[in-house]
Amino acid sequence: METLFYLRFHDFYVVLEEMFKKMTRIKLFALIALFCSGISFAQQGGGMWIPTELNEAEMKQMGMRISAQDIFNPNAPSIKDAIAHFGGGCTSEVISAQGLLLTNHHCGYSQIQSHSSVENDYLKNGFWAMNASEELPNKGLTATFIIDIKDVTDKILQGVTDDMDEEKRQEFVKSNIEIVSKNAVKEAHQDLFIRAFYKGNKYYQFITETFRDVRLVGAPPGGIGNFGMDTDNWSWPRHVGDFALFRIYADKNNKPAEYSPDNVPYTPKHFLPISIKGIEEGDFTFVFGFPGTTDEYLPATALEQVLATTNPNRIGIRDVALRILDSKMRQDNATRIKYASKYARISNAHKKWTGESLGLTKSNAVGLRKDYENEFTKRINANPEWKAEYGNLLKDFQELYNANDSYLIAEIYFDEAIYRNSETFRVALLMQNLLKAKNTPEFDGLKERYRNHLRGLYKDYDAALDQEVSLALIDLYKKNVPAQFLPENAININASTFRNSVLTGAQKINGVSILEDTDKAFENNEALVEALESDPLVQEIGLILKAYEEKVSPKYTAIQNQLAQLQRTYMKAQLEVFPDRKFFPDANSTLRVTYGKVDGYKPEDKPRYDAQTYLDGAVAKHIPGDYEFDMPEKLIELEKNKDYGIYGEGKRKKAKMPVNFIASNHTTGGNSGSPALDRDGNLIGLNFDRVWEGTMSDLHYDPTICRNIMVDARYILFIIDKFAGAGYLLEEMKIVK
Ligand code: ARG
Ligand code: GLU
Repeated sequence: METLFYLRFHDFYVVLEEMFKKMTRIKLFALIALFCSGISFAQQGGGMWIPTELNEAEMKQMGMRISAQDIFNPNAPSIKDAIAHFGGGCTSEVISAQGLLLTNHHCGYSQIQSHSSVENDYLKNGFWAMNASEELPNKGLTATFIIDIKDVTDKILQGVTDDMDEEKRQEFVKSNIEIVSKNAVKEAHQDLFIRAFYKGNKYYQFITETFRDVRLVGAPPGGIGNFGMDTDNWSWPRHVGDFALFRIYADKNNKPAEYSPDNVPYTPKHFLPISIKGIEEGDFTFVFGFPGTTDEYLPATALEQVLATTNPNRIGIRDVALRILDSKMRQDNATRIKYASKYARISNAHKKWTGESLGLTKSNAVGLRKDYENEFTKRINANPEWKAEYGNLLKDFQELYNANDSYLIAEIYFDEAIYRNSETFRVALLMQNLLKAKNTPEFDGLKERYRNHLRGLYKDYDAALDQEVSLALIDLYKKNVPAQFLPENAININASTFRNSVLTGAQKINGVSILEDTDKAFENNEALVEALESDPLVQEIGLILKAYEEKVSPKYTAIQNQLAQLQRTYMKAQLEVFPDRKFFPDANSTLRVTYGKVDGYKPEDKPRYDAQTYLDGAVAKHIPGDYEFDMPEKLIELEKNKDYGIYGEGKRKKAKMPVNFIASNHTTGGNSGSPALDRDGNLIGLNFDRVWEGTMSDLHYDPTICRNIMVDARYILFIIDKFAGAGYLLEEMKIVK
């Protein structure tokens, strides 16, 4: 209780102190009045809102000068017509009348990589198409626009009753979705999906248009687009030009089409003007994009589990893998290149979870959630109907989460130690899957899929390195998975298992090493099956898989389903019990708007950081030859001469080149590449990250430390124009000065 008080008091004090410095007396009185009126969750801020249901009044009060209709209008061009889901995972936006598309460098990474070779290393040196014919097509890459959003809850929940059992409910929902989908009005080239919101208390229908010819136009060198790499990832201050340019192509009727040399640049209904007027602390900003997943309405007991079980176990497993990878990558250049992107993937989530736990602790998320639950309980106790319906919810949660704990640990270890972070174990799991399909019609298709997958995997595989990682992970597995979930016989995986396996290339299939000639190793079905069935690694991993499938997965899944039902009821309860609070639905990869203000922040034990960084700060971090912090010579030169074109800030002698900035927009994974817009709907930034402790905003948003990080639009234009000499691209953009 004491620490709880201290933390809250401490935070409050820090916030107050900062405000005090900036505020006029009147504002301060208003603030004190606000506090005295008893703010709690209502003023918490944050939120990822459905664009058809915006709180226009609040946005305007914060400084917005356009209307909600300007942001989303299904019947006339609006800003949403410039926003596209990029490859299903990131966000992108159209910035010219010729379908020019802006997103993050890290979102286009695999496309940039796939066009790269030793002679033309676009990841390292950058790429700029100097005319349309040089733009590079990308097989499989899509850009999806949202045409319309409709609340179809009544139709989807038709016939569903509160006392219905879960299976029956799901049947109704499923068949209603089919009926509504079939009857929906849309054009032939459009698609439609229906998705659950508010944990299944609401359903929305989306009509979409997906373009399939999306070409690479430009990307800065890694020393700009990925400057600071893993060391700077999830942190502030930041100095990275994390952007890339693509272009959408359409058929001659401006409709989606597969790639064809006859396709023409897409004419959008709307594209974003780019403002170079600059930003100031306190400016209104909103971010428009496709946030992936959040879990903002968990009970306190679930947050405790994240802090005590989920994050420490995942972090602990990845610690071990990362430490081994790092030491080998430092010793050998070829290993470093091979494992750079794998390392980045493993460390990205590892670093995020660490920051998330830090933020949850620092902001006393569990304590605040308990206060909230006390208020919830007080309110339902005062209403007999609510009490009857919701009186057991929190207790049921507690029991289920407790029951879940050991299954969760086993689940995490299987996922992280066997499936995700050992390449050889993952191959063994895939091969188990293939063997299960033996003598079925699926076998050949599956074999083909895995063969393609393995060809890519083995290209960058270091058998000795992965063996070391895998053996360390299996040690953790044996030590930390509760005994009742392990295979009956002791797990017997050691160096000789690897030496005797075909999966590491040490033994041959069909006369060849799977590493050197995956195609030939997979050629003959009989030889392949025979080699896999007698392989010691495939067998051992098979036993682990069997134990997991029998002893962990069914129960774990059953509890997850029960939890999902409870969460649906809890969400319904919160909507009823707190009519004074505005709830946003958890992110689910659908189009959302979040808004906030340009605002610095104060990390633990550090002075407050400004909201904006500049190019001189990037140059100060420059380490020649370093693989994370090496900067292109030309950029250093531009900074030295203050040669910023029209993009710098301030007068000639004092001029500075803005690079990144932060604001209190509530974002998550999937918001990468999202535009940050100003009060007039002009693009001012490109979202790419969050500050470290602020990553807890997936579970708990705290306005004092949650910040999203953006590339300043001026820096993007500066790099295109002054650095890359691709100024012709600027001619098709609309620059607001
Ligand atoms: N943290 C950002 C995100 O979650 C950027 C990741 C890419 N960059 C990296 N250094 N791994 O996607
Ligand atoms: N980098 C993340 C992405 O790829 C966005 C950062 C975040 O999670 O906020 O979507």
